[in-house]
Amino acid sequence: MKQMDMIYEGKAKKVYATDDPNCVIVDYKDDATAFNGQKKGTIVGKGAINNRMTNYLMKVLEEKGVPTHFVEELDDRRTVVKRVSIIPLEVIIRNKAAGSFSKRLGIPEGTELKCSTLEFSYKDDDLGDPLINSYMAKAIGAATQEEIDTITKYAFTVNDVLKDFFAQIGIELIDFKLEFGKTSDGQIVLADEISPDTCRYWDMKTGKHLDKDTFRRDLGDPEGAYQEVFKRMGFGE
Ligand code: TMP
Ligand code: ASP
Repeated sequence: MKQMDMIYEGKAKKVYATDDPNCVIVDYKDDATAFNGQKKGTIVGKGAINNRMTNYLMKVLEEKGVPTHFVEELDDRRTVVKRVSIIPLEVIIRNKAAGSFSKRLGIPEGTELKCSTLEFSYKDDDLGDPLINSYMAKAIGAATQEEIDTITKYAFTVNDVLKDFFAQIGIELIDFKLEFGKTSDGQIVLADEISPDTCRYWDMKTGKHLDKDTFRRDLGDPEGAYQEVFKRMGFGE
């Protein structure tokens, strides 16, 4: 597959057109941002780790019945994925209170929840990705009820699969963010990435943060945190 012009550059990835109109190439960067791009930095090696971890997990999820955009890993940082139109909703699942949930509701981080939660944010950087509910998402045309139902079903399946997967390597999946896209033939697929950029991973024994909170909160050694998860997943051995 031939890589052609860059069509989009986001905070953590570049996207290139290819000679196949139904496919694009994503190229993962080491750039890290937080607080809607106000904080900027680099996590050396992050691009390669996030690329390989995402692809591994997408393959696991496909086997469990969640369709994804994954097509083929090209090298350390680049992957061919299906070209989709992204549904402008960030889909966040939480298993324990943390981050903006703790702040908004005044519930200390690490508090057990009576059930897992799902929330939507409207993907708009200028607005700071505001929290919206499904009625609002429908009202503004971000998604139809049918799409919301499909996304919700897939997101909870992803949670079941990932929670178990990470528990087996001593990591508690606290929360994560997913994005979904629509292919040219109208299929909803899981898109974007699943990585320490987009998940909260806490070490089950020590409670240590093994994710991007190390960068967001200046907890020290984000490279080490990413490498630790990568190693536990069986990479680099
Ligand atoms: P939050 O607690 O800040 O709302 O974050 C919830 C989860 O979503 C957490 O695992 C980190 C992830 N996330 C992203 O992937 N992108 C973002 O821009 C934000 C704010 C959070
Ligand atoms: N995506 C966020 C940003 O805008 C970063 C984050 O907190 O994950 O910079």
